[in-house]
Amino acid sequence: MSSLYPLHSYDCEPPCEHLPLRTLRERAEQWPSSRVSVQAFDVDGWRYVMKRSRPPRWAGLRAWAGALSCLAVFGVWPAPGRLRVGDIHHEAARLRALREQGQAVPRVYLETGNHLVFEYCGLTVERILEHMRPAARLALLSRVVDDLADFHRAGHWHGGAQLRNLTMMHGRIYRIDFEENVGAALPLPIAQAYDVLLTFHSMVDHLGGDPAAGTRLLARYLARVQSPGVAGALGAADRWLGRLRRIEPWLGARLRRGHDVRRALALAGIVHGGLAA
Ligand SMILES: Nc1ncnc2c1ncn2[C@@H]1O[C@H](COP(=O)(O)OP(=O)(O)O)[C@@H](O)[C@H]1O
Ligand SMILES: [Mg+2]
Repeated sequence: MSSLYPLHSYDCEPPCEHLPLRTLRERAEQWPSSRVSVQAFDVDGWRYVMKRSRPPRWAGLRAWAGALSCLAVFGVWPAPGRLRVGDIHHEAARLRALREQGQAVPRVYLETGNHLVFEYCGLTVERILEHMRPAARLALLSRVVDDLADFHRAGHWHGGAQLRNLTMMHGRIYRIDFEENVGAALPLPIAQAYDVLLTFHSMVDHLGGDPAAGTRLLARYLARVQSPGVAGALGAADRWLGRLRRIEPWLGARLRRGHDVRRALALAGIVHGGLAA
């Protein structure tokens, strides 16, 4: 979704018995065929988000690439068939299960053959961070890290834990976008370590050029989650990322300045420093 949402959100959810289900269904049926697959809209003063199923592109190839990456980074080979990205029905089932267990995820209001309509849960953390001063930014990132540790301590995995898949509503962090299937294909500590890598990789650009802040945040996560399994999986990732750190001096200056390379190097430093702290 590209439009900027208003910073306010509603104080409470529409009560279920008053849900305008007919209107929501009509909206789903009338959705013009465009490339957009997620859309926010208002009905009677309430904001909703609608997602439509999209044909998975290169799903088989991406699953194999994902399995090879897991083997390289964590030393574990997941069945590529189980790693395939799930559909909107898989996402709806995960949202319902997590919500039943008290987790902050959108409420699913409507599920049709091709559409999901769920609760609007505020701006993404990524978007909010763009408008913050450095000190406030670090405070929010600390909350993100604590939230991830608590989510993991409760025995869950996200699969798409980047900042763009976290939102804030009424001062609470919400998790969205549950199409990924990694937790079905990997042991829990590895799926959780994968969440950690995604979260910290997406944080790199918000650390104000201070990688030590990232290291402190990872140490904070590890102290809170208290999981030898996750620490072990991150240790395996550290050994793999160490190769990147070792070849850094030989990378040309231009390559080193490249955005992706810089982010990968920053992540490698954070994982190494956070585990050693
Ligand atoms: N429940 C929601 N509340 C607020 N914004 C949402 C919600 N669901 C999706 N969005 C917005 O739509 C974007 C795309 O939705 P997402 O479920 O992450 O799909 P995608 O698979 O395209 O990343 C999110 O990054 C966020 O900006
Ligand atoms: Mg997303």
